[in-house]
Amino acid sequence: MTNFQNRKVEDVWLAPSLLAADWSRAGEQVAQLQSAGVEWLHFDAMDGHFVPNLSFGALFLPILRPHCNLHFDAHLMVSNPQERIPEFLAAGAQSISIHVENQPHLHRLIHQIKDGGALAGAVLNPATPVETLNVIVPELDFVLVMSVNPGFGGQKFLPLALQKIKQLAQLRIQQELSFKIQVDGGVVAANAGEIVRAGADILVSGSGVFGGPRTVAENVSALRGAIAAAF
Ligand code: DX5
Ligand code: ZN
Repeated sequence: MTNFQNRKVEDVWLAPSLLAADWSRAGEQVAQLQSAGVEWLHFDAMDGHFVPNLSFGALFLPILRPHCNLHFDAHLMVSNPQERIPEFLAAGAQSISIHVENQPHLHRLIHQIKDGGALAGAVLNPATPVETLNVIVPELDFVLVMSVNPGFGGQKFLPLALQKIKQLAQLRIQQELSFKIQVDGGVVAANAGEIVRAGADILVSGSGVFGGPRTVAENVSALRGAIAAAF
């Protein structure tokens, strides 16, 4: 298996989004994800203010904890992350990402997350430039590049995200940093290869894992195949 950007295929992780799961049998669905060998479970918290949709809060995490050992990753699409971070930490979030667009106190909140024992990520909407993170990037565990406008699952991947992933991957090399690059929105087997080649390490996928006629295991396997083919 050839390397690029000093990465190996096992360094690329899958983070299925619970948003697209069948919530009436969510425990069973996350157990299927674990059997399929994914690494992270992505929780999309939406408040109907920062994004035009409501989803769920922190209560879903302890409900699902008995059903899997996956890393719990919370993506907060909310107007007041400072009030939600303690709830998600207490609920067992192992990583929390917050948007930069509505956040005048990004440094404080990133450290609120880290002090709570979780990995901290900053999220860039499609129109938000990578340069926004210039000052804070050495303190981040990961950067989440949105490849759709947040708020809804099942949207089409925006190719502009690829350039931003490449820019982050280059910045990581230049500054000798080790933050991970996560990408979220419209990720499916058909585009997973080019996303990984651009430099992404953690692929969030909702409808690509839970949608369509195939089983969760088959969808995960198709994504893994596409990732492996990229190396
Ligand atoms: C969008 C969410 C995504 C989304 C991914 O606001 O942050 O995590 O649910 O779903 P798909 O993969 O269907 O685009
Ligand atoms: Zn998300």
